[in-house]
Amino acid sequence: MRIVMFGCPGAGKGTQAKVIAAKSGAKHISTGDMLREAVANKTEIGLKANEYMSKGALVPDEVVVGIVKEKLVNDKITDFILDGFPRTIPQAEALDVMLAELNLPVEKVVNLNIDHQVIVNRLCERRVCLACGESYHLKNNPPKVEGKCNACGADLVHRSDDQPEAIKTRLDQYDQKTAPLLDFYKKQGKVIDIDASGAIDDIRDNIMKALGL
Ligand code: AP5
Repeated sequence: MRIVMFGCPGAGKGTQAKVIAAKSGAKHISTGDMLREAVANKTEIGLKANEYMSKGALVPDEVVVGIVKEKLVNDKITDFILDGFPRTIPQAEALDVMLAELNLPVEKVVNLNIDHQVIVNRLCERRVCLACGESYHLKNNPPKVEGKCNACGADLVHRSDDQPEAIKTRLDQYDQKTAPLLDFYKKQGKVIDIDASGAIDDIRDNIMKALGL
C-alpha cells in the first residue's frame, strides 16, 4: 500500500493516516512530525526549518525531499502513507523520480475535502503530543486525562503554528502552492475524493471502503 494523504492544514490527514497505518501495516510518514522532531532536537535541519514553520511558511523543497528520501531508503520502506508530503509540484516530481528508482509508485491519493472556515476552529483547539505525534481536539477528540497523551502519557502542547495568524498563512500557502498538485495526481488517475467535514469515524469508514480495507 502506497498512499498520499492530501488536504489543507487541519483537514484530518494525520488523524486518518494513523488509523489507515494501524489497519494496513503501512508506515505512516509525516514530514511535519519529522521536522518538529528535528526542531526539538535542535539539529541543523531543525534550526533552519523552524524559521519557516513558526510563521506557517513551507520549508524549502530540497530540505523536505532530502528527509523523505533518507527515510524511505534507509528504513527500506515499501508500504507507506505519506502525510504532508508532497506539498508542491517540484516535491511531487522529485517523489515520482525517487519512487521510480525504487519501483514503488504512489497508488492512491486520498483527497480530504473541507471548507477553510471549519479549519480555524479545528486547529485552534488542537493539542498534540510531541513525544509520539498523537493529535487531539479539545472537544471533538479529547484526551482521556486532560493535558496528557492517551498513547504515551507525555504532556500535550498547543503548536506554535496553530495560532490564528500562522493558520491564515498556512491556508494561503496551501491555496497557492499545494492545491495545484491535485491536477497533477488527477492526470495520473490516482485521486480518491473524500468529504472530510463529518465525524472522524465516518470519514475513516469512507476512506477504508474506498481503499478496499
Ligand atoms: P504539518 O504537520 O504537515 O501540518 P499541516 O499539513 O498544516 O497539517 P496539520 O497537521 O495541521 O493537519 P492535519 O490535516 O494532519 O489534521 P489533523 O489530523 O491533525 O506541517 C507543519 C509545517 O511543517 C508546515 O506548515 C510547513 O512549515 C512544514 N512542512 C511539513 N511538510 C512540509 C512539506 N512537504 N514541504 C514544506 N514544508 C513542510 O486534525 C486537525 C485537528 O482537527 C485535530 O485536533 C483533530 O483531532 C481534529 N479533527 C480531525 N478530523 C476531525 C473531524 N472529522 N471532525 C472534527 N475534528 C477533527
